[in-house]
Amino acid sequence: MIENKTIVSINNLKKSFGKKQVLKGINLDIKEGESLCIIGTNGSGKSVLLKSILGLLNPNEGTINYPKHGTLKDFLKDVGIQYQDSELPNSYKVREIINLVYGIEKRPTIKEYKENYIVDRDKEVDNSLKFFGLYNYANSKVKILSGGQKQRLNILLSLITKPNILFLDELTTGLDIKAKISLLEYIKEYQVKNNITLVIVSHIAIEIDNLSNRVLHLNDGVIISDEKISDIRKKHKTLDNYLIDKFKPSEVSIDD
Ligand SMILES: Nc1ncnc2c1ncn2[C@@H]1O[C@H](COP(=O)(O)OP(=O)(O)OP(=O)(O)O)[C@@H](O)[C@H]1O
Ligand SMILES: [Mg+2]
Repeated sequence: MIENKTIVSINNLKKSFGKKQVLKGINLDIKEGESLCIIGTNGSGKSVLLKSILGLLNPNEGTINYPKHGTLKDFLKDVGIQYQDSELPNSYKVREIINLVYGIEKRPTIKEYKENYIVDRDKEVDNSLKFFGLYNYANSKVKILSGGQKQRLNILLSLITKPNILFLDELTTGLDIKAKISLLEYIKEYQVKNNITLVIVSHIAIEIDNLSNRVLHLNDGVIISDEKISDIRKKHKTLDNYLIDKFKPSEVSIDD
């Protein structure tokens, strides 16, 4: 059997903000083709871990390597990202932002220009806008979009360059039920068709169940479990049971 290549290799990663230590020694390898889900309570360090992998935060201690690509820069060329807290430039129009992201990431070659690349690309952007229910907003400024529409645009942007590594930080938060269901199907199909590597942060059973094959529990900056989804299903039957078992509150409080 051919061993899949390691895409990200994290060794003893520690990250603090002032006196507050958020990541307390993370060791983690992510392999090509893997679908990893990170679960954990609010503030446990999930987004900080993702941002560290993506080079947006510098570790205080430890290392993050990208064995398959060699450098962070080359790694990022293959990556699509949907941030939990991204701010879109308000004064831009929806189509302008998409073209900006698309244009920078996938500059066409002369041959592609000759082969109607731009026309194809515009069609593709239109199709994406339609799928994400933003077609009628293509020429609207971002500032008039609703929260859920901004979230849809964020997801569209993470996918428009057809990345083969995808990071999704709380994919369906803020989306209506219909959008949630179609988006899950869309990502699932994209994942299977292109055999991508997927890293998601999620609190939602249906998302974890559909999109991941490995679940990592981050608790207070430490990985406390790292399990295959097939083992979780064997042990707990459903993802809902698993999450309830893991996070069942011991007292009447949403805090630890
Ligand atoms: N730039 C920052 N400066 C200071 N503290 C930060 C910064 N980013 C994150 N933190 C702190 O780090 C901790 C972990 O934050 P993080 O965003 O990783 O949580 P999370 O696990 O993603 O939570 P959630 O489920 O709410 O998204 C929090 O206590 C947060 O306040
Ligand atoms: Mg977060």
